[in-house]
Amino acid sequence: MDSILSIQNLNKYYDSGFQALKSVTLDIERGEIFALLGPNGAGKTTLISIVCSVVKPSSGSISVNGMDLQAQYKEARKQIGVVPQELAVPMFETVWASLCFSRGLYGKAPNPAYLEQLLKSLSLWDKKDNKIMTLSGGMKRRVLIAKALAHEPSLLFLDEPTAGVDVELRKDMWRMIDELRAKGTTIILTTHYIEEAEEMADRIGIINKGEILLVDKKEALLNKLGKKQLRIELSEALNEAPPSLLNFGLQLEEQGKVLSYHYDASEKKSINSLLSALAELPIEVQDIQSKQSSLEEIFVSLLNDAEQAKQSL
Ligand SMILES: Nc1ncnc2c1ncn2[C@@H]1O[C@H](COP(=O)(O)OP(=O)(O)O)[C@@H](O)[C@H]1O
Ligand SMILES: [Mg+2]
Repeated sequence: MDSILSIQNLNKYYDSGFQALKSVTLDIERGEIFALLGPNGAGKTTLISIVCSVVKPSSGSISVNGMDLQAQYKEARKQIGVVPQELAVPMFETVWASLCFSRGLYGKAPNPAYLEQLLKSLSLWDKKDNKIMTLSGGMKRRVLIAKALAHEPSLLFLDEPTAGVDVELRKDMWRMIDELRAKGTTIILTTHYIEEAEEMADRIGIINKGEILLVDKKEALLNKLGKKQLRIELSEALNEAPPSLLNFGLQLEEQGKVLSYHYDASEKKSINSLLSALAELPIEVQDIQSKQSSLEEIFVSLLNDAEQAKQSL
């Protein structure tokens, strides 16, 4: 894997003694959209703040594009842009001045053509001379993204980009993130919205109580951990499940009107033999539906498993 960011054994104890990150190891592939998914308090913002050098790690190492974040701080930090969770923008500055300032912070030579292009891609160009305080909440968020990208970073962090924004803006943000990726920017977004991870990410990492529980490609995660249900609605209720179907572990539900079959998303063979066995019977089927467990169900059951594993220690 061509990794752009490599995090090794990262631990964070806050001054209170609280351990917010527990031996986090994570590699981010160049060009991907990686979603770090976890409940509130899981440690997502702490992790981002450490990579962006706002918070000091207690131990561990981080490298960006092969450069050590501590030893080669200036060069490594230049590669990173971050859109913070909190809406913190300089209210009295104009959009343009604020962007030029952000770029200058990293010692990059001025590049008005690039900034113009950036503002145009975020539909902010006609607002460039406006004071930021005069912009709507959605526009302010776009300014934050523009500021994060002003120094042309190759790696962009978005911390809860759509928390508290309306559906319209959320869809806009998703579109923008897709466009950035198409231009080659690697994106790490944190979210506690499962739908967002499901919609956007190539890979998903699940973090809970400072620990990475799992990292995998989105499809692989859904396939490996997902369960499927086949629901067979009958024209007439049965008193009991037909013996030839019992072998499949089929259940009779809803006053005998529904045969329900649960199986792993990866097994397809048993469905074929189940349907053949069903066709042999003098049963009239009214309808068949199949349902795949969502990422949400997988997520909840993973967190539950982690809890149980802890309790049994
Ligand atoms: N400055 C701090 N001092 C002590 N504890 C903190 C501090 N910042 C965050 N925490 C705690 O660390 C944990 C992780 O917080 P955070 O990284 O903000 O989680 P997330 O972004 O996933 O919601 C939480 O329990 C939070 O209360
Ligand atoms: Mg957070």
